[in-house]
Amino acid sequence: MYKKLIIIGIALAFAFCHSKKKTTAVKPAEKTVVAARSPLAVAQKRWPGATDEELAQGKTIFETKCTKCHGAKKIVTRSEKSWLHEIDDMSPKAHLTPEEKEKLTRYILSYREANTSAD
Ligand code: HEC
Repeated sequence: MYKKLIIIGIALAFAFCHSKKKTTAVKPAEKTVVAARSPLAVAQKRWPGATDEELAQGKTIFETKCTKCHGAKKIVTRSEKSWLHEIDDMSPKAHLTPEEKEKLTRYILSYREANTSAD
């Protein structure tokens, strides 16, 4: 008789622990990682008011108008100074408007800075 009660008690304890575990085993909310070096964060630091849309447009310009004569050049391997020079050089070749050139510049420089380590 007592043996039975003990078994039931143990079973209940298990059931209780189990159900408790279930309800508390909710994953903690994913931490929102605010990437300090996302291209947008980099761009906004430099050009307050820079938008994701503008960077996306710069990327499109880079991938379409800047690949007509050669492949997409690697962004991270070139210094910022060199890029500014290349962009000045290449924008007329690609017939970019001043606005397109600005978007391209913001895209390239912020992508570069966000994807290189120190500097
Ligand atoms: C009308 C053709 C043409 C267009 C359009 C063009 N380029 Fe070029 N680009 C060249 C040529 C020619 C070279 C020299 C040969 C090479 O490096 O492929 C060159 C070289 C480069 C180089 C490498 C220079 C070096 O010393 O290694 C970069 C970077 C570059 N272009 C970026 C761009 C960007 C950014 C755009 C868009 C604004 C662009 N190019 C559009 C023709 C073009």
